[in-house]
Amino acid sequence: MATDDTSLETFLRRIEEFEQDATPALRDAATPEELEAARIRFLGDRSGLLKSIQRELGSLAKEDKPAGGRAFNQVKTRVEALHEERGRALADASRGASSGRDLTMPPRRQWSGAKHPVTLVIEEIAEIFRELGFTIALGPQVETEWYNFGALNFPPDHPAMDAHDTLYLRDDILLRTHTSPVQIRTLQRFPPPIRILAPGDVFRRDFFDASHAPMFAQIEGLCVDEGISFVDLKTMLTNFARRFFGAARTRFRPSYFPFTEPSAEMDVECQLCKGAGCPVCKQTGWTEILGSGMVHPAVLESAGVDPEKYTGWAFGMGPARIALQRYDIPDIRILYDSDVRFLEQIARPAGGDA
Ligand code: PHE
Repeated sequence: MATDDTSLETFLRRIEEFEQDATPALRDAATPEELEAARIRFLGDRSGLLKSIQRELGSLAKEDKPAGGRAFNQVKTRVEALHEERGRALADASRGASSGRDLTMPPRRQWSGAKHPVTLVIEEIAEIFRELGFTIALGPQVETEWYNFGALNFPPDHPAMDAHDTLYLRDDILLRTHTSPVQIRTLQRFPPPIRILAPGDVFRRDFFDASHAPMFAQIEGLCVDEGISFVDLKTMLTNFARRFFGAARTRFRPSYFPFTEPSAEMDVECQLCKGAGCPVCKQTGWTEILGSGMVHPAVLESAGVDPEKYTGWAFGMGPARIALQRYDIPDIRILYDSDVRFLEQIARPAGGDA
């Protein structure tokens, strides 16, 4: 009869809707608690939706009961299986989160980057000179022969230009052997007064030994203005050494560079042996930390600066050697080994305090 048919149809629609609602609720339960709430709602023994549908089964017409019952049982089986499956998955996940791990194991170390000792020294030097009005200037590591030698007043056949000492890339293109070419580049670009500090890597055909490396950092300093004299050079550099090394004694020794006249090398009392003599200072008690001098008039001229009007002084120092002194390191090669066990004794986290 029509009413019975409708009744079976309604029943089948009800059970279909039940499955549609129950499936995502059980399948997507994120926690055991959520799953249990869904179970009570759909499969609960007392007031679960499936129970109320089961009661309706009883009110179907007799001839409709087999079809209704079959549909009911199929859906019930599927939904119960889904509940069981989800329960197992959630249990597995929580076991993985707690047990699969050994909670007694020491935690993995936190690594944080830090600055290399040579970088620390460069920054410290730059800070001292910054307070004296020096700004940072940079130049290329690949230079022309003219910037590296010619403009700096090297005579055409100076031994430093020899391929034994200098790494040439092409005829007159080379890896700069010092940061002094930055003097020329700066003077060409900016009119005096000039006060710059030029840190950067330089390259020489040197053996790698306790005090030499084929590539190392240098810091160039240049001060050009009207009326600059050797007094300025000596005061500034002595002042710097006092700031940087504390009470250590310093001395100037006459020296020679093609691009300065007069020239002087500055030594600092060896910080490792306090002047007593050790392998690092080659038993002299002193360490050379920089070469310096009054900028040669020919250098000013090749950079287009009038040497009648302006004078200046310049220096070049090796922050790696200074780092050896600063941190009591006996061999320069250690600085380039990148052995973290050594570096982390000195390095401090970027941005942190000493
Ligand atoms: N360029 C020189 C060197 O590499 C150092 C220096 C720089 C000396 C500036 C005097 C003035 O040894």
